[in-house]
Amino acid sequence: MAEHFKIAIVGAGRVGTALGRALAARGHTIDAVVCSTRAHARQAVRRLGAGRPAVLDQIGTDVELVLITTPDRIIEKTAEELASLHRGWRGITVLHCSGFLAATALRSLRRKGAWIGSLHPLQTFTREDSSLEGIYFFLQGDPHTTAVMRSIVRQLGGRSCLLPQRHKPLYHCAASMACGHLLALLELGAGLFRKIRIPPAALRPLVDRTLDHYWRDGFRASLTGPVARGDRRILQGHLEQLRRIHPAYAEVYRQLTRVARAKLSPRGSSRR
Ligand SMILES: NC(=O)c1ccc[n+]([C@@H]2O[C@H](COP(=O)([O-])OP(=O)(O)OC[C@H]3O[C@@H](n4cnc5c(N)ncnc54)[C@H](OP(=O)(O)O)[C@@H]3O)[C@@H](O)[C@H]2O)c1
Repeated sequence: MAEHFKIAIVGAGRVGTALGRALAARGHTIDAVVCSTRAHARQAVRRLGAGRPAVLDQIGTDVELVLITTPDRIIEKTAEELASLHRGWRGITVLHCSGFLAATALRSLRRKGAWIGSLHPLQTFTREDSSLEGIYFFLQGDPHTTAVMRSIVRQLGGRSCLLPQRHKPLYHCAASMACGHLLALLELGAGLFRKIRIPPAALRPLVDRTLDHYWRDGFRASLTGPVARGDRRILQGHLEQLRRIHPAYAEVYRQLTRVARAKLSPRGSSRR
């Protein structure tokens, strides 16, 4: 198995750029870079510092690895478009980076002989922060593709975990909650602080220490406040405040209190 590839990136956005940069830095050759427009592809090439702007049918017949890092909703369609190009896909590895979709989203390319897989970096990517060092990559695909993905992850300084196809939707749901919903909750708290003219940044030491405690000691040992103390009067007082602002906030509070209570119970941490 080759250690270094000639690579095409289809969808050089946040993840495509992060992977492309890291792979170029480790000696891979970035070739075609495709975005939704040529102008965007030119900008992406500048961000990557490698590759050449291209459209789909300019992906050379000599690429060895294609990364489809478009939004999830067009991965399957993009694969179909690639498969319909008049060329052989035999022996070429094609990966997508969706945490939710299975590798079979690329089945049209497999029918043309490509090796297919999904390589999900368990990290959040913005344009600014794109480090891959030390993160977990969850892999799914056939054994050949898995070996290729493992080798890539090793080169990137990441850690590989195999993920059965049937677990992908729940895996991705968990990751989205721990990342996106955590942010939504922080923003909710920050918004309430703004309402009473307290700078949200005042929450930072509290939030940071809470997260430190959680990773060190786990949920039960880290939980403080009215749920941990079982103080119903205060919980009711909080709910009254939230109902006045927005019923949905009160509902979120009620449901999270239920979850916290259940997790505090003796069997809580193993409950569904
Ligand atoms: N962002 C994350 O934190 C994260 C984390 C893990 C996995 N992922 C996964 O990584 C993949 C990419 O996500 P992302 O956040 O990097 O998306 P993104 O920043 O929105 O980038 C998507 C890229 O796809 C391009 N694109 C859109 N339509 C296209 C088309 N028809 N043909 C060719 N290119 C097209 C876009 O081009 P333009 O630049 O022209 O718009 C853009 O460059 C998704 O599968 C996502 O689930 C994302």
